[in-house]
Amino acid sequence: MQPLLTIEHLSKVFPGQVALDDVQLEIKAGSTHALVGQNGSGKSTLIKILAGYHEPTGEPVAVFHRPDGADEPLALGDGGAADAAGIRFVHQDLGLVDTVSTVENLALGGGYRTRFGRISWKAETRRAIADLTELGFDDFDVRAPVGALAPSQKTAVALARALRGWENGARLLVLDEPTASLPGADVARLFDAIRRVKERGVAILYVSHHLEEVFEIADEVTILRDGKNVATMPIGELDHERLIELMVGHVVERRRAVISSERGSVLLDAHQLSGGNVRVLDVQVHAGEVVGVAGITGSGREHVIPLVTGQIPSNDGRLYVGDAEVPPFSPRAAIAAGMAFVSADRQRQGNFATLSVTANTTMSDVKRNSQGPRLVHSKERAEAEGWVSKLRTKTSSTEAPMATLSGGNQQKVLFARGLRLKPKVIVLDEPTRGIDVGAKEEIHSLIDQAAAEGSAVLVASTDTEELVRLSHRILILRDGVIATELLGDEITVENIERAQLQQQTKSKVSHS
Ligand SMILES: Nc1ncnc2c1ncn2[C@@H]1O[C@H](COP(=O)(O)OP(=O)(O)OP(=O)(O)O)[C@@H](O)[C@H]1O
Ligand SMILES: [Mg+2]
Repeated sequence: MQPLLTIEHLSKVFPGQVALDDVQLEIKAGSTHALVGQNGSGKSTLIKILAGYHEPTGEPVAVFHRPDGADEPLALGDGGAADAAGIRFVHQDLGLVDTVSTVENLALGGGYRTRFGRISWKAETRRAIADLTELGFDDFDVRAPVGALAPSQKTAVALARALRGWENGARLLVLDEPTASLPGADVARLFDAIRRVKERGVAILYVSHHLEEVFEIADEVTILRDGKNVATMPIGELDHERLIELMVGHVVERRRAVISSERGSVLLDAHQLSGGNVRVLDVQVHAGEVVGVAGITGSGREHVIPLVTGQIPSNDGRLYVGDAEVPPFSPRAAIAAGMAFVSADRQRQGNFATLSVTANTTMSDVKRNSQGPRLVHSKERAEAEGWVSKLRTKTSSTEAPMATLSGGNQQKVLFARGLRLKPKVIVLDEPTRGIDVGAKEEIHSLIDQAAAEGSAVLVASTDTEELVRLSHRILILRDGVIATELLGDEITVENIERAQLQQQTKSKVSHS
C-alpha cells in the first residue's frame, strides 16, 4: 500500500506537560490505522493538531502523497489546511448540538443548500436521510432533536457530518474513540458504517481503548506511550497481550471478582421502580455485593442508573438507601441518604472544566477539609494528591484545571470524588468508558475494595468483559424489565451477549 500521509518530528509541549515527543506517523492510503495508548499518552493531542485546534511545538514535517505520485506539504495546526487536504474528524465528544435536529446538525457542518437564497429544509431533510441511509442508519427521525437519539445514532450523525461532501476529496477520516459509549450490537453497526467509508477509498485513523475492536478493524497500529511512538506495525504481527505490553510498558494481570459467600444487609432496594425505558425494576443490592446491569440500548439498561440516582423522573415505585426512603427525581436526596454515583457522560455531568483537579475531587464533601467555616486548602490539596497517586491520574498538578487533563484522566478525578465518601451505595454508569487498560484494572480493584469494605455497588456497563470482571450477579434487561439474571459461573461474556440479543429476535417475532 502507498503512503497517504507522513508526519515526522511532531511534538507538543503544554505548560508543564510534554504531550507529544518527536512522533513519527505514516498512514497508508485506503487503510485503517489504529492509534492506541494509555490515558494521556497523546492520542487526542495528535488529532487536535491535525484538526488545527492546537499548534505543534517546533517544526514538524507533514506530507500528503497524492495518487499521482505528487507530494503536497500539509501545514499542521491549521484547520483550513487539513480540511482542504481532505481530512475529516469525529472528535471524542462528537461536538453535536443536542437541542437541534439531525438535519440541522448536518446542515451546520456541511453548508446549506439554498433555493432563492433560502435554506431549503425539504432538500436538507432528504439529504440527511440519504446520508444516514448510506451509512446503514435509516431507522430514526432526522427531525428529532439529536439529544434524544441513542448513542450509536448520535455517532452516525457525527460520522455523516464529517463525511459531507466526501466525494470532493475526503481522503482521511479520523475517529477519536467513536465506540466509547456504544454497546456491542451498536459497535457492529458502526463498524459496518466504517467499512462502507473505507470502500470509498477513504483511509481511517481510529482511536480506541477497546483492543478487541482494534484487532477487528485495523490494518496497522501505532502505539503511543508518554507521547512517544513506541511502535507502528501491521496488526497481524501482534496479539492482545503484546499490544497491552507495548502500551503500558509492562505485563498487566487481569483478575476476576472474588465471590464471597457472605453478603451483608440490603443497602440498595429498588421496588417496582419505573421511568424512562424501564418498565419495572426490582433490585436489591447487599453490602459487599457488586451487581452488574446489562442490555442493549433501548432495553431500559440506559435508564437504570439515571432512575436509581434520581436524575430522571420515575412514574412509580419506591427506592431505599439503607433504611431511608429516597424521594423520586432527587439526586440530592439520594446523595444525602448515602449514595455516590459517577455518571456516564463525564463531559456534561459533574465535570467543572475550569476548576482545578483538587476542587473537582473534594467538592463532594468540603466540610471534611474545613476548620470551622474556613476551607483549609492545604488539606484539600493533600487529599487530592493522595487520589492522584492512588489512581495514577496524569496531570501536571492538582491545581491544574480539569480541562487540561485527557478524557480518561478526568474520569479518574470524578471517580475519586465519589469513592472518597465511602458511601453505603455506589452507583456507576460506564465506570471505565474511555479509560485505558492499566487504569481500568486499578479502577476495578477500587470497586472490589469498596465492596469488600461494605458498600453495595450497582454498575451498568456496555463493556461486557467489564461486567464479567466486576460482578457477583448480573441483571440483563430486555423490553424494560429484568429478563435474565446470571449468577456465579453463569456469568460469561457469551451468556450476557446471548441474553441481551434474545430481545431482538423476540421483538422481531412479536412485530410480525
Ligand atoms: N490543553 C491542555 N493543556 C495542558 N495539558 C494538556 C492539554 N491537553 C492535553 N494535555 C496533556 O497532554 C497529555 C496528552 O493528552 P491527550 O488528551 O492527548 O491524551 P489521550 O491519549 O487522548 O488520552 P485519553 O485516552 O485519556 O483520551 C496529557 O497528559 C494531558 O494532561
Ligand atoms: Mg483522548
